[in-house]
Amino acid sequence: MKIFLDTADLKEIERWLKTGILDGITTNPTILKSAGVTEPILAWKQIIGLIRKYISVPISLSMEVFSDSPEEMLKQARSFVNELKYEGTTIKIPILGIDGTDRLAVIRELAQQRIAVNCTACITWFQAFAAAKAGARYVSLLYRRIMDTGLDGGAEIRRTRRLINRHRLPSEIIVGSIRQKNDVLKAYGAGAHIVTIPPRFLPELLMNEKSVETQK
Ligand code: E4P
Repeated sequence: MKIFLDTADLKEIERWLKTGILDGITTNPTILKSAGVTEPILAWKQIIGLIRKYISVPISLSMEVFSDSPEEMLKQARSFVNELKYEGTTIKIPILGIDGTDRLAVIRELAQQRIAVNCTACITWFQAFAAAKAGARYVSLLYRRIMDTGLDGGAEIRRTRRLINRHRLPSEIIVGSIRQKNDVLKAYGAGAHIVTIPPRFLPELLMNEKSVETQK
């Protein structure tokens, strides 16, 4: 299981990059806002600087487009790639626009230009499977948001993984929307290649009273 960090908080990013356990970082407009970011490009450049300081490989950094229109998404994606010049640049494209129409053609076009795409906001196995077929390098299934709709998060992940394996698609499933530490194991158990974890859950996952007692 690969571990991504779901945050734009530079202190948390630095703290966990130092440990060597991170395989990637995911951000989105809400995460940027809650980290107090007003200039996303600058914030991403700072994150890339930290990655270069602590890790020898350019791990994936997901950056979401701010626009909803397909044309603007393509323009923004290309401008992020050109401005950041970072091999781990991964562009987050939502599966659907606010009018409910799909963004599969955007994913395909970026993939054809060899730009790594993380298709986000997938709730169903078919959305994630379609995004993988369109060429998304990563498909993000949002575990707790799936549960919010009454669907079984584990089942959607399992079905997606089965199809990715069966069709030998070069996509990895990122499970996001982790809201409890146990969600990590459930996501991994269901077939997530990657779980993107808000930093506050990592100390909880590492903590065990018996280890503390043993050390004492
Ligand atoms: C992933 O990047 C998602 O945007 C994020 O994990 C959503 O989490 P939430 O459903 O708790 O807002």
